[in-house]
Amino acid sequence: MSVYFSPTGTTRKVVEGIVAGMRAENPVTIDATKKAHRRGSAHQFKHELAVLAVPVYYGRVPEAATKYFDSLTGDNTPAVIVVVYGNRAYDDALIELYDIAVRRGFVPVAAGAFIGEHSYSTEILPAAAGRPDMKDLEAAHAFGDAVREKLLRCGSVREALLTGIPGNRPYIEPEGLYRLREIRKASRFTPQTDESLCTRCNRCIEACPEDAIDQLDILKTDNRECIMCFACIKICPVNARRMAEPAFFLRVKEIFERCRERKEPEWYL
Ligand SMILES: Cc1cc2nc3c(=O)[nH]c(=O)nc-3n(C[C@H](O)[C@H](O)[C@H](O)COP(=O)(O)O)c2cc1C
Repeated sequence: MSVYFSPTGTTRKVVEGIVAGMRAENPVTIDATKKAHRRGSAHQFKHELAVLAVPVYYGRVPEAATKYFDSLTGDNTPAVIVVVYGNRAYDDALIELYDIAVRRGFVPVAAGAFIGEHSYSTEILPAAAGRPDMKDLEAAHAFGDAVREKLLRCGSVREALLTGIPGNRPYIEPEGLYRLREIRKASRFTPQTDESLCTRCNRCIEACPEDAIDQLDILKTDNRECIMCFACIKICPVNARRMAEPAFFLRVKEIFERCRERKEPEWYL
């Protein structure tokens, strides 16, 4: 069973690659991206293998996903911990998701950090554009296969426990990135719809994890709900959803310029 939060779909693609590599029969998926799916009673796992996956936001597990993942219940359930990041760094997201899993009764048996196109990547300012690509998906498949091999080899779930995961405890707050979040909090800007281009297809409304776009008036976005995941921008077929905030893009440009070198997937078994 895999559970993921994936506003722009790269985490979902990586999870699909891993699950294919595991060769599980009838794999079940919980897409916890939309707020409605994160409400109510969260899944109680038994002895199936769980894949828990989130994108990295500000070097951590996205706030919008933390509460939900912290409400899942494992019963010594083996878990594969996965984070997907936009080629900057995954910082303490992997260890944080690992800790959530342990706290909730899972036994982490493997962990992986993969790369996905940065949510803020554009044609003019690309970052990890097109990723996960074929090479990444082959790596995800190989990782899934290696997890399967490990579990077949180990006599018990406890024996398969993964220790020595990279990261800091307490988690380090990446200062520069938090500045980006603070800029956002202070000015409360958010993507907007260009009325002259919008065809009212409503895909942005459906894609928004937090239901921040007004269902009756697509021109209104609730900036207290928007998590700046850019799902609405990426899904729009006519580029009518835009982010027009120079301060934001200046900061993003600085970050992208410092992490141009291609990072490769890493995993721990
Ligand atoms: C609010 C926000 C913060 C992000 N922070 C980071 C980060 O700290 N490091 C990084 O490499 N990528 C970061 N990213 C990029 C995402 O981790 C990356 O694009 C990921 O592939 C998105 O996953 P998804 O397609 O499943 O939504 C951030 C993206 C957003 C929207």
